[in-house]
Amino acid sequence: MDRTFLDLSPCGPLRGALRVPGDKSVTHRGLMLLALSQGEGRLYHPLKAGDTLSTARVLRALGAEILEEGPHFRVRGQGLRLREPEDVLDCGNAGTLMRLLLGILAGQEGLFAVLTGDASLRRRPMGRVAEPLRAMGAVIDGRDGGRRAPLAVRGGRLQGIAYTLPVPSAQVKSALLLAGLFAEGVTEVVEPVPTRDHTERLFRHFGLPLAVEEGRIRTWKTGPFPARDLTVPGDFSSAAFFLVAALVTPGSEVVVEGVGLNPTRTGLLTVLQGMGADLEWRVLEGEEGEPVGWIRARYSPLKGVSVDPGLIPLMVDEVPALAAAAAWAEGETYIPGLAELRVKESDRVRAIAHNLRALGVAVEEGPDWLRIEGGGVRPGEVEPFHDHRIAMAFAVAGLPVGVRVWEPEWAEISYPGFFQDLKGLCAAS
Ligand code: S3P
Repeated sequence: MDRTFLDLSPCGPLRGALRVPGDKSVTHRGLMLLALSQGEGRLYHPLKAGDTLSTARVLRALGAEILEEGPHFRVRGQGLRLREPEDVLDCGNAGTLMRLLLGILAGQEGLFAVLTGDASLRRRPMGRVAEPLRAMGAVIDGRDGGRRAPLAVRGGRLQGIAYTLPVPSAQVKSALLLAGLFAEGVTEVVEPVPTRDHTERLFRHFGLPLAVEEGRIRTWKTGPFPARDLTVPGDFSSAAFFLVAALVTPGSEVVVEGVGLNPTRTGLLTVLQGMGADLEWRVLEGEEGEPVGWIRARYSPLKGVSVDPGLIPLMVDEVPALAAAAAWAEGETYIPGLAELRVKESDRVRAIAHNLRALGVAVEEGPDWLRIEGGGVRPGEVEPFHDHRIAMAFAVAGLPVGVRVWEPEWAEISYPGFFQDLKGLCAAS
């Protein structure tokens, strides 16, 4: 079959303001918690894209009623006791869905479910959630000794555990906290390094049991809880591509409005400022416990930096965008702490190195680091490797000189309309 591609011609200055689609992490979690709630709640400004539509589909198979109301979702929860699905649950490309759902299903006594996903998701490590859930009493088996999908779960009686995250992962933390809502005793997750805290904020929003102190997050068994409306902020990870596009294209000035500014997500702003980026942002409201505001980016001559590895968990999805900025910076950028990027939707360390080379940028790749020699890119062809963020990051890296993006439809996993929005900012100049 012929492969699809999109040719982006060189873009002049990017100018204007835009809003990006709803946050993917908050949409997944909002749908799951509403599905477990009692009564009816609306999810305003959700992300409606490949990944989160997978979540809606799977939750419907578990008994929740999820209706589209214009751009919003109306959810009638099934309550804490989900319905046994009649068929295999297909999580598509969505790692967050599979991992968090494992936590929920583990505590559904007697319920049997099989989870699978696309080729990328079936390759991704699930032992990191299955093992601690088994320690809580869950019955989970699957391919590769129960470490990879397809996975079969038989819900059972859970017992709370104390668990220190061996790798910084909000998905593992969240799966255990969700399981903890069904477990006897206290479930405690210790995170030596902070990761995104959307689950904790949403537990507070829904009045679910939660105690947080210095990297220790505890929860315990909940009773039935009522639905509550929720507004999803714009996705910082989607905004990141426009910020970088503006920073590397002379004459640009772009404002992203209504975007989530949760400090566990915005490590990229710190790194870009260290590279000399002209960035400004302001939090205007703390909608539903999530800080929301605007960010302005103006073209800036960037210089290479050595990134603090401690910042990586706060920008784990923005490394492809950072690599695009580094390609245009003067001098070398060193990015350590990238072990987790090897097991994302693609091997992102490899995908970044491949695409930088395709655009004429010198790059060295280590087991968990990248060294990028900046100075600009030349026109070329970029390959998404079935990974939405790689497609968008390298569209942006090549935009000032023109680039061919193969299989651009991968962007739709988290951002339908990405290329129209990008072209819209170019046209506005
Ligand atoms: C996510 C957490 C991160 C991130 C992913 C979404 C979440 O993964 O990369 O895109 O919603 O919890 P890890 O927690 O596995 O690092």
